[in-house]
Amino acid sequence: MEIKKNKLYFGKYCAEDLLKKFGCPLYVYEEEIIRCQIKKLKNCINYNSLKLYYACKANTNLAIMKIMLEEGCCIDTVSCGEVYAALKAGFKAEQILYTGNNVTDDEFRWLIEREILVNIGSLSELARYGRINQEIGSKAKTNKICVRINSDAGAGFHDHVITSGVDCKFGIYYKYIDEIIAKANQYKLKIIGIHHHIGSGILDVETFLYSMNVLLKYAVKFKELEFVDFGGGFGVPYNHEKKLNIDVLGMKIKQVFEKFCVKYGKELSLFFEPGRYLVAEAGVLLCRVNTLNKTPKYEFVGVDTGFNHLVRVVMYGSYHEIINASNLDDTKKKYIVGGNICESGDIFTMDSKGLKLREISNIKEGDVLAILTAGAYGMSMASNYNMRVLPAEVLINREDAKLIRRRQSFDDLLKEQI
Ligand SMILES: Cc1ncc(COP(=O)(O)O)c(C=O)c1O
Repeated sequence: MEIKKNKLYFGKYCAEDLLKKFGCPLYVYEEEIIRCQIKKLKNCINYNSLKLYYACKANTNLAIMKIMLEEGCCIDTVSCGEVYAALKAGFKAEQILYTGNNVTDDEFRWLIEREILVNIGSLSELARYGRINQEIGSKAKTNKICVRINSDAGAGFHDHVITSGVDCKFGIYYKYIDEIIAKANQYKLKIIGIHHHIGSGILDVETFLYSMNVLLKYAVKFKELEFVDFGGGFGVPYNHEKKLNIDVLGMKIKQVFEKFCVKYGKELSLFFEPGRYLVAEAGVLLCRVNTLNKTPKYEFVGVDTGFNHLVRVVMYGSYHEIINASNLDDTKKKYIVGGNICESGDIFTMDSKGLKLREISNIKEGDVLAILTAGAYGMSMASNYNMRVLPAEVLINREDAKLIRRRQSFDDLLKEQI
């Protein structure tokens, strides 16, 4: 992404040209940024048996999942639908980890039949998995499981993304480790991995290291481990925050884990499940201004997308930088940018307390706005609310712009209805 002659460019295409070619609104991803983020994380955590499991909930476009595969990532999934997509993208069963929650018996059956390694997050699920695995044949591969520990070390940018602690539905609370081991023995399951994911959008090194040490304290109780999985959570700056110091973090992670392996008496594999870190900064949501509407308090800029396409602002009060891709260098004015959904909360410039004026280069009807850092939890959380179609997605590879998801049609909106 670069600015040329007052306009926003992706490779040889300016934002306006992309919209002419592919329609509006449009998700645009830069392949080079994704590849670069993967390499950065791998190089910084310079540990021999490191495996990155891309948390595909961040972005489930098959083209993006294929990039992860090409770069040597495995894949972290949270539903059978995601497993299905991962298999379609070309991942082998042994490259997939399933970390669902509130998993049904049918889902367990489906996963066991495909020999997918399951990360189990409650004693109830552990017993049901064990029973179902025995019922349908208990192959050597599906006797191996991972368990998700609620290590009480939760962190994250919003309450809704903190995934550890007593208020949290995920994982088996660390006080029940004896019960985990007893249940696993009862069903002849071998616990080869322990896991936690403490939350999302973490930007400081200390929080990460603290939580790692907490999980490792419990890891020693499991005697047959092949790996420890510390989940995702690597943050990216959305609003000019200080970047996560990945060089320092990587170096310290390696130190902490190597020390642990010596104590454990075996070189274990080290897993992480980054989602946001790999794709957030690669993605932009382009939309067009169609309406300018004043009240005595605000100038509302109306665009042709809404929280149905990018829900993070409404859901978490998250900040996404917005720039005028048609007119970048003009006088800055203060605006409220609103979507086209029939809800007064459909606003892209607000925080958890309410509307927030945003300075953007002078906007007129027809201008293209770019909503930045939208590659993670953007399209993958999008919906058809208000019967609005999902946008198309385009992948920029140097000079090339490739359509990787077509825009929905009105027929698509109705196709499941009987
Ligand atoms: C189990 C698990 N792993 C990994 C992730 C990815 O988190 P992030 O995108 O913050 O890296 C999530 C996100 O919710 C998760 O629940």
